[in-house]
Amino acid sequence: VEVSVLIPAAGQGERLGLGPKAFLRVGGRTLLEWALLPFQGASEVLVALPPGAEPPRGLRATFLEGGRSRQESVARLLEAASLPMVLVHDVARPFVSRKLVERVLEATRREGAAVPVLPVPDTLVRPEEARYGEVLPREALRLVQTPQGFFTALLREAHAYARKRGLTATDDAQLVRALGYPVALVEGERTAFKITYQEDLPLAEALARVWNA
Ligand code: C5P
Repeated sequence: VEVSVLIPAAGQGERLGLGPKAFLRVGGRTLLEWALLPFQGASEVLVALPPGAEPPRGLRATFLEGGRSRQESVARLLEAASLPMVLVHDVARPFVSRKLVERVLEATRREGAAVPVLPVPDTLVRPEEARYGEVLPREALRLVQTPQGFFTALLREAHAYARKRGLTATDDAQLVRALGYPVALVEGERTAFKITYQEDLPLAEALARVWNA
């Protein structure tokens, strides 16, 4: 398929406190190795690593130096991308099925931009001075995951627009929205959660056993 897979993996994993997540081991593989698994057929895979990090051997990918933010890392990967569509996927989400990748790709081909989302299971509240404040309607909200798919030209334009305006974002879809383009939603996966906290690790080890089985 005519897709460049872009993996921003240049974070230092500060909240986790175990070094860069790309090199963190779960179930016998690094998170980077896990992140690449559902994209095995891809013709181009580009990975942004923390500055100074030694590129791992034996992986079918091209390694670049990441930037100071996720957004900067993705911008660098985008410059190097050579195919008409991109899938941007965070290294912190090791458990992504091929089915999810296919759903995102299919919607991207049709609509130019697509992201996986999930309903929010918990009650959501805006705290007011450590007191229970306004409740946000959780039925109206979604959690946004990766991989996110885009026409390469569209995401390049969105990043250029953001740079010009000084917009910063935690994912790529919001930059496409800021440019005024719609982003399609497809169904995400609970297992594609982002490893962020220490408590996520035993969950990840358990999922790795299921995935490896
Ligand atoms: O910090 P956060 O969890 O939002 O990071 C999401 C993704 O962005 C991670 O895969 C991380 O490695 C990547 N990242 C990056 N360059 C940075 C900061 C984060 O590629 N400077």
